[in-house]
Order: sequence, then structure tokens, then C-alpha cells
Amino acid sequence: MYRRALTWLLRQTVKLDVYINRIYPSDWNPLYYTGGLAHFFLFLLVLSGILLFFYYVASLDGAYASIRYLSEEVPYGFLLRGLHRYAADGFIVAVLLHLFRNWFTDRYLFARDGPWISGMFLLILGGFVGVNGYQLVWDQRAQAVTEIFVAILGAVPLAGATLVRLFLGSEGISAAMLPRILFLHVGVASFLYVLLWWHYVRLRHPKIWPPATWVLLLLGLLVLLSALPGTRPTAGVPAQPGVRVTAYPLDVFFLLPFWLASYLPPGVVGAGLAGLLLLGYLIPYLKREDESRMGPRHAGVAQVIDGNCTGCELCYYDCPYDAIVMVPSPHPGLTKAAASRKLLAVVIDSRCVECGICVGACPFQALELPRFLEADLMRRIAELVRARAPA
Ligand code: HEM
Ligand code: SF4
Ligand code: SF4
Repeated sequence: MYRRALTWLLRQTVKLDVYINRIYPSDWNPLYYTGGLAHFFLFLLVLSGILLFFYYVASLDGAYASIRYLSEEVPYGFLLRGLHRYAADGFIVAVLLHLFRNWFTDRYLFARDGPWISGMFLLILGGFVGVNGYQLVWDQRAQAVTEIFVAILGAVPLAGATLVRLFLGSEGISAAMLPRILFLHVGVASFLYVLLWWHYVRLRHPKIWPPATWVLLLLGLLVLLSALPGTRPTAGVPAQPGVRVTAYPLDVFFLLPFWLASYLPPGVVGAGLAGLLLLGYLIPYLKREDESRMGPRHAGVAQVIDGNCTGCELCYYDCPYDAIVMVPSPHPGLTKAAASRKLLAVVIDSRCVECGICVGACPFQALELPRFLEADLMRRIAELVRARAPA
């Protein structure tokens, strides 16, 4: 059932690509750059965030006023605020597209479980930073979000009360809270870059930036959204702790769980979120095909046949897992082509996932998977062809 659903989703993803490639040249297809788009939005967030930091006052009395001053008094302050707000929405949309696309196209298996697991951390912490951002404004929405967040946190079994105290800095909303939230907002956002290092470390040439056309288009769109009267972020009503907030504008990208919490007990929403996230972490380990369909599972780490290697570097460029390095050749190779080589390919065992791509890349038969030899494969193919050939 799960496999069938994924196959169907894969087909729809590919169909969507075909449609989009009819509209744009395929190099511009934004779905090929979902990770790059997320990165672009994150970069904008950091840049605008640094500037916002100079105006923000992290106190219960000063926070709302400082944001209002920035939006209404500081020249182009509204633009800065709008860019930060809409880049956050763009970020979460791009990250979710990126997640679903990698999921539907099976790009999370084997050595890609690292990017997947680090990606899940990026999603959770990215979402957390977004929610913090709404709290920092300290208007009525911030107050409602904080109350619901605290209720969800408090519903955590055993550790709930301690977590709430750590988050608020006291038993209830107090002066200690906003500096903590600011610290978390900036600290966790900076930590996303550490996670990104983990995310990229085993990817070969990750496309971390979208094409310039998309950068310009999206920048234009964000500027428009930030400047137009209908979409420009406005100062809401200031928070009034102790007074119940009955309605506040919903941001569907970040605040959906908070909307749910108006209908369901916070513990149920928290448990639902935790369950979804746990499933997310399990995804790379749910879909393992059986061996009879996939062929040999453990073909062995790729081995370089030293005498044949000419140092041409083709395998080095083709290995998707950065598992091959080229080193100065300590001695000449044995074949005529390898006699005057300058470089020698070396496989880093811990990075090799035994995929065999390098075996196909090497024109000099200088690479083998030890338990799946090229000669055996050719022999089996020849046998199959002979068996099916008309007599
Ligand atoms: C801050 C958020 C994120 C950013 C900036 C980001 C960025 C990127 C980039 C630039 C790539 C390389 C893509 C390529 O070259 O085609 C990538 C790969 C990948 N990402 Fe993310 N990502 C983020 C979050 C996530 C999330 C939430 C997931 C899923 C849970 C995820 C899963 C993956 C996987 C599995 C790959 C490997 C895909 C492949 O090898 O083709 N990422 N990411
Ligand atoms: S089999 Fe070859 S291409 Fe595949 S990961 Fe190992 S060294 Fe890289
Ligand atoms: S492709 Fe083959 S010959 Fe070329 S460097 Fe790699 S192992 Fe050596």
C-alpha cells in the first residue's frame, strides 16, 4: 500500500516536471531547486534578521513599540519587516516542497539517510524559529501563540513543568521571557547552518542556490508583498497578559498547529505533531525493497585495480557520494594506458555505498565491486540474451 502510494506520487511528480518544463527551460524548473530555494530564503532571513536586531527591544513593554516604530517611523522599515516575514513563509513552503519531492522520488535511501535525518532537524528547528518570530512581536497573536505553546510544552509527560519554566524563565509570563525567546530565535537560526553542513557533507555538488532569474523574481515578489498596503505586515493589537485573546490573524505556514489547538486539547496536538515527526524520521527505514527485486545488497566497497587505473578522474567526478579521491600516483600503472599516469583513484571505504556507479564510469576496467564483478555481470547478461534469442 505504502509502496503503491509512493509509486503513484512519483509518477505525478514526474508529470508535474514535464508540465513545468514546457513552461520554462528545464534548467529553470523551480522544483529542481527546492533545496536551493530554501537556502535562498534562509539567507534573506539571516540578512534581514541582523538588521531587525538593531531595532528590536526584548522587553514586555518595549517589544511591540519597537516593531511598530520600525514599521511606521523608520524609512523603509516596513520593507525590512515584510522581507523577513515573507521570506519565512517562503522558507517553510520551499522546505516542505523539498521534503515531499525527495520523499516521492526516493532520494532518501541508503547514503541519503544523512541528508534526510539532518533535514528533519532543519524542519523542526526551522519551524520553531518561525514560531519564536511571531512571539517576539508581542502583540495579541504573540500572546495567544505563547499561551498555546506553553500549554503544549506543559503537556509533555514528566518534563512538562520544567520545560515551561525553562522557556518562560519563571512560573508565568514575565520580564525574563522575551530575552529568552530572542536568544532562542537567533541561536537556533544560527545553529541551522551547522545542521546544513551535516546536510551537505555527503552530497556531491549540491545546488545550494537557485538560478538568478528565480532569485530576482522572488526578491521582486517579496518586495511587492512587503510594500503593498493589503499585504504589508501591520502592527496588530498589543498583548495584554491576563486578558483572553479570542481572535488573531492566522499564518497558515507556521501557525496551523496553533489553530488546531483552539479545537483540540494541547496535549493531543502536541502528541499528533510528535507522532508525525517520528514518522518523518522513520521514512528512510520504512521502504526497503527485498533483495530479489533489488539484486545484491552488499556488493562490497568499490576496489581500485591499481595496475589498470590511468588517473583519468572520471570515477572521481561520477561518484555521487564523494567517496573517491585522486592522489598523486606513487608508481606507474601496469597497462600501456596507465604507464604514465600522474594520479591514482583511492576509494574512501566509510563513504562508499557500494552503488557501482564508478564501475560504469571507468573506461579502463580499473574499478570493481568485489562481490559483484563486472565480468560475472557481463556473463549473466550474455546468458540471458542467449536464453531469450530465437533458436
Ligand atoms: C533549511 C532547510 C533545508 C535546506 C536549505 C536544504 C537544502 C538542500 C540542498 C541545497 C540540497 C541539494 C539538492 C541538490 O543538489 O539537488 C539538499 C538535498 C537533500 N535534502 Fe535538503 N534542505 C533543507 C531541508 C530538508 C528537509 C526538511 C529534508 C527532509 C526531511 C531534506 C532532505 C534532503 C535530502 C534527502 C537531500 C538529498 C537529495 C539528493 O541527494 O538528491 N532537506 N537539501
Ligand atoms: S561504488 Fe563507487 S560510485 Fe558508488 S559510492 Fe562507492 S566509490 Fe562512489
Ligand atoms: S575512472 Fe578508472 S581509470 Fe579513471 S581514475 Fe577512476 S579508476 Fe582510475
